[in-house]
Amino acid sequence: MNVKDKTIIVGVTGGIAAYKTAGLVSKLRQLRADVIVVMTDSACRFVTPLTFETLSGRKAVTSLFDDRPSPEPRHIAIADAADLAVVAPATANILAKMAAGIAADALSTTLVALDAPIIVCPAMNARMWRHPTVEQNIRTLRERGVTIVGPGEGWLACGEKGIGRMADVDEILEAIAQR
Ligand SMILES: Cc1cc2nc3c(=O)[nH]c(=O)nc-3n(C[C@H](O)[C@H](O)[C@H](O)COP(=O)(O)O)c2cc1C
Repeated sequence: MNVKDKTIIVGVTGGIAAYKTAGLVSKLRQLRADVIVVMTDSACRFVTPLTFETLSGRKAVTSLFDDRPSPEPRHIAIADAADLAVVAPATANILAKMAAGIAADALSTTLVALDAPIIVCPAMNARMWRHPTVEQNIRTLRERGVTIVGPGEGWLACGEKGIGRMADVDEILEAIAQR
């Protein structure tokens, strides 16, 4: 997909790699995409919404519940507008929610309401990545047509070497281009 003039949801969840997603949002904007960043509560502990708001030029969505009355619930409006969603980093938690269809917060609810293609970029400790439930959830998402990008091997924030690093921004952009 050529992202020019397309609306891309960037879902950010609570992992150290969330700081790298700032670079992804910046690149998407440089490619003239309209970017809506949706953050979990945990993501907001790692990177502030202000960072993503400045880079995307839009208010980051951090809650399902809008202060202002609107004709359509926020998660439905966002899901309707989206041409593609990228979840980066994707925690073990959001993978489980997506696989089970749990709609518990702004991001997971928006993803359940979404018809557009989804790309997820998992990032986690190597033991978490190899946990049978995580492997099962990844299989489920793949079978459903979700594109999984990464994770790669290397230095992990937990101080170990192994598999679990979030894919690089260029690899994610390449996966978006191929959708
Ligand atoms: C310092 C720190 C780093 C973390 N890094 C990750 C990570 O890379 N991947 C992951 O799946 N969980 C990680 N977690 C755990 C998640 O933040 C936790 O499971 C949280 O509930 C995820 O919520 P969310 O999926 O709604 O963002 C980390 C937690 C802490 C405190």
